[in-house]
Amino acid sequence: MFETSINEAKKLLSKTDDRAHDINHARRVSENAVSIGKRLDHKNIELLELCGWWHDVGRTIRDAGHEKISAEMLYKDLIKRQKDIKLSKSAYDAIVFHRWDMSPQTLEGKIIRDADKLDFISIERWQACIEHGQFKHLRDMKTLLDQLPDLLKLDVSVEIYLKKIIMFKKSRLIDLVK
Ligand SMILES: [Fe+2]
Ligand SMILES: [Fe+2]
Repeated sequence: MFETSINEAKKLLSKTDDRAHDINHARRVSENAVSIGKRLDHKNIELLELCGWWHDVGRTIRDAGHEKISAEMLYKDLIKRQKDIKLSKSAYDAIVFHRWDMSPQTLEGKIIRDADKLDFISIERWQACIEHGQFKHLRDMKTLLDQLPDLLKLDVSVEIYLKKIIMFKKSRLIDLVK
């Protein structure tokens, strides 16, 4: 249903060198959003998949305020593809408040935000950043790590966190970031 729009997000993300917010991060957030959505019997899994792919595309323009930029870019992309306004607005709402200190107003918004925060403990993400000497975002994530379960909005996200954190701790990647 959203294949061409997802391809557009992939194309834009393929240009970034920011390993914490690249195409692989977008893919994982999209996968996390789909698994949260499935556990909640969400009626539009494809929309969640799409929003996961687009949530950080705004960073290709600028980091500060990228949540709103991403939301606007996706909204415009969907309208351009003749998707209806209500659906395009839900996609906008699902992305616009995804920062850790923001509170999304819709269920889809909570799902995307939690899916994104769950990537704080992605081994793949930490390894990619360390390999490329990109420590800034890892340091930011490290300072928030203890609060992470409390930051998540949905109980199912906490369940996923509890499973993922075991492997993440075992990896000891955190010790490599000062
Ligand atoms: Fe973001
Ligand atoms: Fe993100």
